[in-house]
Formats: sequence, C-alpha cells, structure tokens
Amino acid sequence: MTARELLPGIFAVGAIDWDRRLFDELISLPDGTSHNSYLIRGSEKTLLIDTVDPPFALTLFDHLDSLGVTAIDYVVANHAEQDHSGTLGTLLSRYPMARVVTNAKCRDMLKDLLQIPDDRFLVIQDREQLSLGNRTVEFLITPWVHWPETMVTYLHGDGVLFSCDFFGSHYATSELFTDDNPTVYEAAKRYYAEIMMPFRSSIRENLEKIAPLAIRIIAPSHGPVYRKPEFILAAYRDWVSDRVENRVVIPYVSMHGSTAAMVRHLVDALMDRKIPVQPFNLTVTDTGDLAKALVDAATLVVATPTTLFSPHPKAMYAVILVNLLRPKTRWVTVIGSYGWGGKTLQMIKENLPHLKAELLEPVMVKGFPRGEDMAALDRLADAIAERHRTLGSPEGGGP
Ligand code: FEO
Repeated sequence: MTARELLPGIFAVGAIDWDRRLFDELISLPDGTSHNSYLIRGSEKTLLIDTVDPPFALTLFDHLDSLGVTAIDYVVANHAEQDHSGTLGTLLSRYPMARVVTNAKCRDMLKDLLQIPDDRFLVIQDREQLSLGNRTVEFLITPWVHWPETMVTYLHGDGVLFSCDFFGSHYATSELFTDDNPTVYEAAKRYYAEIMMPFRSSIRENLEKIAPLAIRIIAPSHGPVYRKPEFILAAYRDWVSDRVENRVVIPYVSMHGSTAAMVRHLVDALMDRKIPVQPFNLTVTDTGDLAKALVDAATLVVATPTTLFSPHPKAMYAVILVNLLRPKTRWVTVIGSYGWGGKTLQMIKENLPHLKAELLEPVMVKGFPRGEDMAALDRLADAIAERHRTLGSPEGGGP
C-alpha cells in the first residue's frame, strides 16, 4: 500500500489494520479498522493530521518517505487517544522541527499519556486558523466526540473536514472513498453505538457547530473517506435525534430453558402484534451487534434467570453495557425465571441509572413458566404495543 491522494497536495498516509479484532479490549471489530493520518502540503508549511497506532508507525513513515517528506512543520492532534497520538513521540524525534498543534485540554492529556515536552506544543483556541501559505486550516473544538478534548480540523478552500473519531467507522477497506455504501453505513452505526452514543447531546451540539462549514469531504481517522458527506451527516442527525423505532431488543440468557421459553413466547407475542423484535442470546451474540440494535430501538427487555441470588453474570454484563452506552430507549423491563428468590430485579434497576426509560411491569416467574406466566407476557406485549402506537409521527419516529 502506498500513500494515496485525496486531492492535489493532500494525501492519506495512515495504515489499514485488516486483522484487528478488538479495540480497548472491549469492542469487537469484525471488519478490522484503519488508522488514518493525512498530509497537507501548503506552499509554505507542511501539516500532518493525527498519527497512527504505534504498531503502524513504520507504515506511516514509509508513506511520508515515499512522498519525499523531509520536514513537517505541524502535527495536528485532534484527539489524545493513543490510536491517533501514540506515534507522536517517534514522529517528533524524526521531524525535530515539528510542533504539535492542539487545544489546551488535549495538550495536557498528551503530556500525561505520552510525556510530550511542553515546548513541542502550539496551543490553539477554538476557531483559530493556521496558514500553510496557500492553504488555511481552522480548528473547531468539539468535545466528546469521543473524549472531552476532541476537536476537528477544517481545510478552507478544499472543504475537507478532518474529523478524527467523529463520523468514523471500524472498517478496513482498500477503497479510499465511500459514497453511500450500505456496509459502511452499518459499520459507522456500530461505531457510533460503541463510541459516540453516550455523548448524544454533545454530538448534537457539535453537528450544529460544523453545520455552517462548506464541507465537500469528511476524512475521519477510522474507515473510508466520505466523498458525499451528507450520507454520514444525515445518519448522525438521525442517530442523535429523539426518534426511536417500533422495535424491541431482548438480550437474554437461559441456564435450563425456562427464561428461553419466556423469550420465545414474548418474541411470538410481539410478532403477532406486528412489532419487530431482536432477541440476542448473550452466550453467542457479539456485544457490538447488541449495541448497534440499541441505537434506535424503542424498547429493551432484559431476560435473565436468577443465578443463586443475582441476575446471570452475562445479563449483568449487558446491563452494565447498556448503562454505559446510554441509548435513547424509551421503555425497559425485565423478564426471567428464578428458583427460590433473589434480587435480580432490584440489581438490574440499580445498575441502569443512566437509562431514562419508563419501567414496564416485569415478569418474574418461579420455575418453568406456566399458562398464567405466558398470559403475563402477553400483557407485557400489549403494554409495549400500546406504547409503540405513540411513535407514529416523524418526530416520534417508527415505521
Ligand atoms: Fe480512535 Fe477515541 O480513538
């Protein structure tokens, strides 16, 4: 792979990470990822946007060498996380005149994480511009697209927004650009679910902040470059909106079949009521698939047996994940079977403080579900159907 040209004088110099399958030791990457870095040549100055994950440092340097880059004036750090910043130290040694351009908060984090010396930084303010001669970049501080220090860099004239994690996707592809590829849409939605969803309101503000820019290209630091930016901008506007879909997500686990029987009955009852439903068996499901389903589902039903005195640990893992990701789910409940008692319901409720959803009547059953238990599940399906009928308007959402 060689450096690839986005526009005259602008190159993608990062690395495709075909084999990566786990990020942050948490997030699965079924399609790999890429660590994008971009070189911008101005008539007077040369600027690099972000670096790469350290194992790919040589790829970055090979690309810079292939372009005959012997000096870099500025390295923009849009984000302090090490998949973008981890090669900064090596890069600064290789290009001793380079200065790290970033905001004060990101500078402080880079000093903590990477021990970059203070005198290597050029600290910028929100909306500050930097001239490269015949080209000018502008920095917009956009907190919480992924961490509190994140910012984006806009190249005037060419209309390129270098957005780092914002609008990214964990998707390894040999294609530099994407237009409206549905596979990229799904990868970007999964990425949003895992990385961005907890910061929905901040992202909404950041979308408004960048809206006045004349954006012709969005070049994130993961995944392909958007040549039709409206494709991903519209997707983000939808994901951060309050719209939810007429859909129920059921993460479940069952030890001896009782909870599974309840899930099967509820799935059928919801289908009978024309409500789309997605059960996720937590012993085999990928948490990224579950997270993606939660982006816009109206209702969440956690289904778990009581294991000794508590929810099954796999169900608890899903509950903690939901609480971390803070989906816009409107309704939530719990179903499951127990042998002699326990605190399953209480523990699940206590571990979902960030989910701003109405709790529907849970269905907790002693032993294997009987006729009256199935009737309770039917009533739950009725309650869900009644709530979902309120989702009719475009604002309320739902097909
Ligand atoms: Fe791609 Fe938040 O790092």
